[in-house]
Amino acid sequence: MQANRLNPIVRLAGRAAVAVSLGSVLMVAGCRQDMQDQPKIISQRGSEMFADHRGARPQVVNTVARGQLREDSYFYTGVIQGANGYREEQNLMPFPVTLEVLKRGQERFNIYCTPCHSRVGNGLGEIVERGYKPAANLHDQVRLAQPLSHYYYVMTHGYGAMPDYSSQLTPVDRWAVAAYIRALQLSQSAKQEDVPSGEQLKSLKEVAAEQHLPEGFAEPWALPSTAVQAYPHDAKQGTPALAPANPADPAIKIPASKPAPAAAK
Ligand code: HEC
Repeated sequence: MQANRLNPIVRLAGRAAVAVSLGSVLMVAGCRQDMQDQPKIISQRGSEMFADHRGARPQVVNTVARGQLREDSYFYTGVIQGANGYREEQNLMPFPVTLEVLKRGQERFNIYCTPCHSRVGNGLGEIVERGYKPAANLHDQVRLAQPLSHYYYVMTHGYGAMPDYSSQLTPVDRWAVAAYIRALQLSQSAKQEDVPSGEQLKSLKEVAAEQHLPEGFAEPWALPSTAVQAYPHDAKQGTPALAPANPADPAIKIPASKPAPAAAK
């Protein structure tokens, strides 16, 4: 009877002893410091290894790290060093514009620029409709006269109330969007003579109907009656809707671009 009652206590004590000995084995193992305490350099911390006690090492003079050789500075910056010492924007694409480049530009423009500039680039995007500072109308005289790389520069650094898009768009994409803006500018003031003979001209409305888009898709965007407008347009800041109706400047030409390289066989 007594043995029966003692039994569980004995068993418990035995288990506790096992746990204690396991624990001490682990503690002894935990005291080993070799890997935890190695003389490695932690970023932004000092180091006794170098004479100047800085962990971060300066770049070696006259060398370029792998992947950081940005030889084509126009491609990366959109400006060239002018003779007068100023950086100058150019009306020039750094690589050939193909249909693929334009399609990519259109896709990126529709994602990142239409909220403010609208699909046709008239500056009447949804966010502006709701009270944001009017985004530039890309078809007015000022914008039409700007060199192509100005658009690249604006996307890279932002412009006034417009944030920059350098983290969302790679340099190639920024150039593709710039090229697409030129295509938009042409499309908004295209004339019948611009279309090769034999090609049938369709209105945006017809295109929208063909693609089964909702009625009014090709019309300027309007706010639904339930929409809340944060602030009324500030006339002093310009109203995109008041941009000239037919601003096309015949002096503006499609930018010259390098000839396409021969297709690899
Ligand atoms: C959040 C709204 C917003 C988005 C998104 C936006 N913009 Fe803008 N953009 C503006 C505003 C506002 C201005 C006018 C800036 C000012 O006057 O302060 C502007 C101005 C411009 C200008 C004219 C600069 C000049 O010299 O007059 C260009 C070009 C432009 N944007 C291109 C783009 C492109 C390309 C994109 C997409 C990558 C884009 N924007 C996306 C709001 C936006």
